[in-house]
Amino acid sequence: MDGTSTPTTAPVLILLGPPGAGKGTQARVLEEQFGLVQLSTGDLLRAAVAAGTDAGKAAKAVMEAGDLVSDEIVINILRDRLKEDDCAKGVILDGFPRTTVQAEALDTLLAETGQKINAAVSLEVDDAEMVTRISGRFTCGGCGEGYHDSFKPTAKTNTCDKCGSTDMKRRADDNAETVGQRLEAYHAQTAPLITYYDGKGALKTIDAMGDIARISKDLATLVAKAIA
Ligand code: AP5
Repeated sequence: MDGTSTPTTAPVLILLGPPGAGKGTQARVLEEQFGLVQLSTGDLLRAAVAAGTDAGKAAKAVMEAGDLVSDEIVINILRDRLKEDDCAKGVILDGFPRTTVQAEALDTLLAETGQKINAAVSLEVDDAEMVTRISGRFTCGGCGEGYHDSFKPTAKTNTCDKCGSTDMKRRADDNAETVGQRLEAYHAQTAPLITYYDGKGALKTIDAMGDIARISKDLATLVAKAIA
């Protein structure tokens, strides 16, 4: 922080969990409930791939293989996004950090603005269900709302409940083979962050198996306390 900037108390929440844990689903609910901004590094990287930026070109094959994109690329993308005005409302980090290097970079970025992590919430799930969750996932291309063939279908076939768009998308990395690699990357590189945030006194855990609405309710109770 330089001598003239004022520390901000805007909340910072982290959602930790393997692919399919429900980070994106729950971040969107929290965004609406608490007026925070969801920052998904997966979404930011997919946008970079679609736009054909240098970062997107470097990330494309890595993402398709289910591996983690380099810390340097991801940290740069997140740093730029955090500077945008809407982030002053507070953020929900979905899919970041994913390595100890990223967690330490986040600590440095937040120290510059005088912010702190209100909570790092680990969504606890069984690996076995994650393949089923991910292989049934689709997303509205109009507003980004997430759905699932069995667990969260649209009310009207192929039509978004929220915005009415019929442009439904499925992700290139949502196949059984890549999900296995993504789960492996999670356990090897991201799960150690549970201990990292426990050591900082920021760790909270949520049982993220079962009904989506029940998980949202538990999470809302936890978040309300964490940002009070
Ligand atoms: P990213 O986009 O972050 O994907 P992910 O972590 O693999 O997580 P997902 O988006 O697959 O799952 P989610 O937890 O959000 O679940 P969702 O709510 O959608 O990353 C993709 C790739 O980008 C990475 O592999 C990597 O290459 C790269 N990347 C991204 N960030 C990076 C970083 N920081 N560093 C390096 N590389 C990075 O739910 C899944 C489905 O299940 C949905 O259909 C939903 O409707 C359904 N569902 C949700 N909750 C429930 C429930 N309780 N019961 C039943 N169904 C449910």
